[in-house]
Amino acid sequence: MSNKSHFNSGLRALNKQKRDGEKHSSEIDDVLASKTIQAFFIDDAIEFLQKVPSNSIQLILVDPPYNLDLESWDTFDNYLQWAKQWLDEIYRILSPSGNCVIFGGFQYQDLKKGDLLEILHYTRHNTDLRFTNLVIWYYKNGMSAYRYFANRHEEAVWLTKSKKYYFDLDSVRVKYSPEKKKAALRDKRLNPDNIEKGKNPTNVWEIGRLNGNSKERVGHPTQKPLAIIRRFVKSLSYEGSTVLDFFAGSGTTARVCVEENRHSIMVDSDEKTLEYFEKHIKNKGAHIKHKPFEQHINKKLDDIFELIGQCNNYKSEEKL
Ligand SMILES: C[S@@+](CC[C@H](N)C(=O)[O-])C[C@H]1O[C@@H](n2cnc3c(N)ncnc32)[C@H](O)[C@@H]1O
Repeated sequence: MSNKSHFNSGLRALNKQKRDGEKHSSEIDDVLASKTIQAFFIDDAIEFLQKVPSNSIQLILVDPPYNLDLESWDTFDNYLQWAKQWLDEIYRILSPSGNCVIFGGFQYQDLKKGDLLEILHYTRHNTDLRFTNLVIWYYKNGMSAYRYFANRHEEAVWLTKSKKYYFDLDSVRVKYSPEKKKAALRDKRLNPDNIEKGKNPTNVWEIGRLNGNSKERVGHPTQKPLAIIRRFVKSLSYEGSTVLDFFAGSGTTARVCVEENRHSIMVDSDEKTLEYFEKHIKNKGAHIKHKPFEQHINKKLDDIFELIGQCNNYKSEEKL
């Protein structure tokens, strides 16, 4: 479906389908899994990707080096030349309903160093991936500036393998406040069912960056907030599906996958990832309800897919 706000026949057809109680062809039910597998690999992303089977991943969610010289792994003479090597593998390994999210920013001025703009341009012109949304992550906390407008956003590009991409909007709708809900229910143009479910969060997300003393912090220098990763994981993958993050960092994606009952495959060239992930799990607390999980480190990838298959074939007695 194209995204044209003034004339959108696709949207009208979707609304009719909903009114008629029909399912969209991209809808997939959650898979009943007995537990989830969280598999970690200490490896180079590009080398690892070549081993990943075709059509095997529901969601690729990556927060790559932005080329901002923040760390030793964040500096490239030719960013796009490097990025092409992993961008070229994404279409192949995504499942037909698969989604891919790539974080990035446009913070560098003048230097023509390569950034998310070049990544987006490359995927649009050189791969079969379809561009669906550019999500603006807006935050209020940041550095001050005197010679330009202080930066308060980063971006994430959402790409899909086909038109039948999986998208669960209901899982991430934003609840109306009681007053706004009352007003919305008086507006005859709005669908009352959707008002009950909440608002579309839109493609501008206001989520605070992690301060130095944030309770979420596990020590990784560029750790992403849980809330932003959770919104993507919940809406673009389903329970029992597999999420791949090949720039795992602290393993924020795996932590969210544990909590949301998804399997994950995490890759980072730095083995400190394992320590960070341990802290994530300690921070998580026991109050969050989720399936049990198994962590595997540097196992054979075939064995990991085998284990995921076994978890998903599990039959719960209540469901039989
Ligand atoms: C921006 S950070 C990811 C942070 C993560 N989203 C989090 O919330 O913790 C990027 C990560 O990519 C890793 N990295 C850089 N180059 C890599 C490569 N070629 N292969 C695998 N990992 C790499 C770095 O070690 C770093 O941890």
